[in-house]
Amino acid sequence: MSLPQHVAIIMDGNGRWAKSQGRERTHGHYHGAINIRNIAIRAKDLGIKVLTLFAFSTENWKRPDSEVSFIMDLPRVFLNQYLKELIDNDINIEFIGDWKKLPTSTVKICEDIIEKTKDNQGLKLVLALNYGSRQEIVMAVNSFITNHPHLPIDEEMLESFLYTSHLPPVDLCIRTSGEKRLSNFLLWQLAYSELVFCPLHWPEFTENDFEKTINEYEKRHRRFGGL
Ligand code: FPP
Repeated sequence: MSLPQHVAIIMDGNGRWAKSQGRERTHGHYHGAINIRNIAIRAKDLGIKVLTLFAFSTENWKRPDSEVSFIMDLPRVFLNQYLKELIDNDINIEFIGDWKKLPTSTVKICEDIIEKTKDNQGLKLVLALNYGSRQEIVMAVNSFITNHPHLPIDEEMLESFLYTSHLPPVDLCIRTSGEKRLSNFLLWQLAYSELVFCPLHWPEFTENDFEKTINEYEKRHRRFGGL
């Protein structure tokens, strides 16, 4: 099979990795953010078109305030450290999710990142921030009803109201850290995706591990319900 066009990743295991190093959970999130840079550049070099990463879920607000604040500040850290390099690598950054609950300072930084990378064509890096698939589907249904109050809903119409409507279908979804579940990530979009569950924690998942996963995908035979 050919190279996947769109790869999604559930970047799990930051906390456990940090614990294994005798460090705070936030240390894991920091190294997780650094790894986004590494994997995005490798994805672009491989010729992948879209990389969608689960950075913060609608359920992650249940975590301690200090951890939530740390993650909400990561876009700023990421911008300061890597934006120039990501622009040099022709990476275009977008966000999906419900921004209503995000701190204003985070929204401003994310808008700045979008603006500064908007003309890049190499790889689309989509960060899911305060994203939950059920919230997305409910939002899409409500938008559909508002826009077409008298039409029956169909799959194509509903899809056109999802955050991902402009992106190609997700070919492959990877979850790190050994957990085998989707945790409310892209439930609609993953209907026919290939899934790979990797035992490594996200901060220790290297570019070569990513490439091996892509090779595993290339060996699979997708049937989309056919024969
Ligand atoms: C899951 O690991 C990871 C998260 C909830 C946060 C992931 C965020 C990043 C990798 C960085 C985001 C960066 C930007 C620029 C927005 P966990 O904490 O649940 O790990 P555990 O299961 O071992 O506790």
